[in-house]
Amino acid sequence: MPAISEKQILEALENVMDPDLNKDLVSLNMIRDIRIDENNNISFSIELTTPACPMKEHFRTACTSVIRERLPEAGDITVNLPARVTSGRSCGHSEEKTNPLPDVKNIIAVGSGKGGVGKSTIAVNLAVSLAKNGAKVGLIDADLYGPSIPTMFGLENKRPEIVNKTIVPIEKYGVKLMSVGFLIESDNPVIWRGPMASSAIKQFVTDVDWGELDYLVFDLPPGTGDIQLTLVQTLPFSGAVIVTTPQDVALADVAKAVTMFRKVDVALLGLIENMSFYLLPDGTKDYIFGKGGGEKLAKAQGMTLLGSIPIGSIVREGGDSGKPVVIESPGGEAARAIESSACEVARQISIRNAAACAHRN
Ligand SMILES: Nc1ncnc2c1ncn2[C@@H]1O[C@H](COP(=O)(O)OP(=O)(O)OP(=O)(O)O)[C@@H](O)[C@H]1O
Ligand SMILES: [Mg+2]
Repeated sequence: MPAISEKQILEALENVMDPDLNKDLVSLNMIRDIRIDENNNISFSIELTTPACPMKEHFRTACTSVIRERLPEAGDITVNLPARVTSGRSCGHSEEKTNPLPDVKNIIAVGSGKGGVGKSTIAVNLAVSLAKNGAKVGLIDADLYGPSIPTMFGLENKRPEIVNKTIVPIEKYGVKLMSVGFLIESDNPVIWRGPMASSAIKQFVTDVDWGELDYLVFDLPPGTGDIQLTLVQTLPFSGAVIVTTPQDVALADVAKAVTMFRKVDVALLGLIENMSFYLLPDGTKDYIFGKGGGEKLAKAQGMTLLGSIPIGSIVREGGDSGKPVVIESPGGEAARAIESSACEVARQISIRNAAACAHRN
């Protein structure tokens, strides 16, 4: 018979808080599968709301030390960290009936008012980072006039299969992909007018077999035009990630995108500042485009700064060669900055989902 009971373990774990949700892990029903063997070795699971949880290691350490402190007779302590991604819609409400993607838990828009700031680069690396963490991820290239996803994944001449009139998304690096670039020749520019473009993008949602996804990321085209509006009005987005560079001009354009998302009631998950600095060989940072622009904009708009990504040839080369930087050089500064931003995005979504469910229950 073990000298420790499940109840004692739960009582100890009541002292570990989730700082984002401001409740302890036991009240949040996150502790599962407690096992104690005859030698008082303990194992249990903390069920996370996202596999890309930035708090993972914090929870593991905090739980282990609180058990060690309160139950000195404990033997080995094994903490498992499985995840079940939440959805703001999983508490059940009427919108579900009209949602064309009921099996997709969270839809994320990556946008900016400005072209060339790195939306596609961020969207690609964000999607791949979430997948690397174990999430089920899809990525839609909503840029019909200048699709980048096929190149960024090294899939220029790929064509998706069509089964029973449904398009099977192409999968790479664990991410299911759809882009107009998979449907047209690359030297054959798209000349669709607004309404056709909007209906094409709707088909990417309805005619593609996305299956069950934790996160579906949309790489939006620059600006605040028809495609962006159609999308944000037809789909229940969890929120938008805004990409900017530190220059003032970019910041003014970005503010327009922020206003658009606010007008159509899409939550702003936060801002990612791209091309923030250049890391010199001696480890110092050169703020080529000025310092602190993203932080200033985030503050002015009441948004979270999700991360600052350095400028570097490794990021561009990753895009050109079809190997995103988080795959090609995962330990590097740029990849780590993007991975940490991806975790922040997942965290913001989890916080909002918990708030939405608390509000409805
Ligand atoms: N942090 C970075 N460091 C170096 N190069 C970068 C970085 N971010 C993006 N780039 C490069 O800048 C160019 C533009 O990036 P990207 O295509 O992602 O921007 P975009 O905002 O999606 O552009 P568009 O408005 O045309 O859709 C690409 O060549 C990309 O490789
Ligand atoms: Mg782009």
